[in-house]
Amino acid sequence: MKNKRKTIVIIGADGQLGMNLQHALSKHRLELLTYQQVDVLDRTQVEDALGRIRPEWVINTAALTHVDWCEENDVKAFQVNALGARHVGESCRANGARLVQISTDYVFDGKKGTPYREDDPTGPLNVYGITKLAGENYVRSAHPDHYIVRTSGLYGPYPCWGKGTNFVDTMLTLAAQKDVLHVVDDEVLTPTYTEDLAEQLRTLIEASPPPGVYHATNDGECSWYEFARAIFEHTGMSPRIEKTTAAEWKAVAKRPAYSVLGNEALRLAGIETMPHWKDALGRYLSKKLGS
Ligand SMILES: NC(=O)c1ccc[n+]([C@@H]2O[C@H](COP(=O)([O-])OP(=O)(O)OC[C@H]3O[C@@H](n4cnc5c(N)ncnc54)[C@H](OP(=O)(O)O)[C@@H]3O)[C@@H](O)[C@H]2O)c1
Repeated sequence: MKNKRKTIVIIGADGQLGMNLQHALSKHRLELLTYQQVDVLDRTQVEDALGRIRPEWVINTAALTHVDWCEENDVKAFQVNALGARHVGESCRANGARLVQISTDYVFDGKKGTPYREDDPTGPLNVYGITKLAGENYVRSAHPDHYIVRTSGLYGPYPCWGKGTNFVDTMLTLAAQKDVLHVVDDEVLTPTYTEDLAEQLRTLIEASPPPGVYHATNDGECSWYEFARAIFEHTGMSPRIEKTTAAEWKAVAKRPAYSVLGNEALRLAGIETMPHWKDALGRYLSKKLGS
């Protein structure tokens, strides 16, 4: 039943997305599991927690999310992002819980040039994407009742623990410190506001469409440079901002040039997709800056 109160476990409950999920799902019976309470690497801890709670739904947000760090720490990244997801998938199956496994646009190689469909072939370019895709596959094989939800470029009111900040806040900080900002213009994605994504996940759970892969982002697309420009337009700041390329930027990990996710599966399930990224950015900045 759509409005029935459900018992929902959030794993990674104090992360950037986990915190917004706590608000969005507050009318349900929530069980919050932080890293301190359950390490997804420890199969027994996961099994004991889910066996005790017996939830109807589990949302697994736990991950190592710092893309460049993962590139140089592949074993640790695989353990958490892949084996951790496996432990959660197996324990969900054992306890009859439906699993929402959060994944990423970085499972794609970025060569398609038009929004990725849920069934497009994957081809991750970096360790983070490889390990997140392995996590998806473990979940798929462990538990038929899975919802793999891929999203992209998250920002919101709570810090991303893996990165310590988010792109919007980084731009605001750098604008106050530097005369010129250089921002990559040849990587295109859809920045996604965690408040909107948390609401979308609530809708997904309450609608309970068929299990499978779902893409869930704000609407539209932009490069990091275009995103930065929109941030400054909204705030009225006017730092000098120059385009750079991924090759010039020389990040440790390669990123896809185009990782926009079409939200087709949600639409087909009759679920309204999220507002445009500019609308979301405006709401975030208005709340943050009090305007
Ligand atoms: N951030 C993005 O731009 C982005 C983009 C696409 C997809 N995603 C996906 O979205 C999900 C949520 O990301 P986020 O931005 O909310 O990241 P986050 O703030 O870094 O949250 C990740 C959470 O996982 C926890 N965690 C790490 N290792 C763990 C372990 N071994 N056992 C249990 N918990 C562990 C962290 O706890 P501690 O803080 O205590 O370490 C943190 O609470 C992730 O699955 C990520 O891959 C993120």
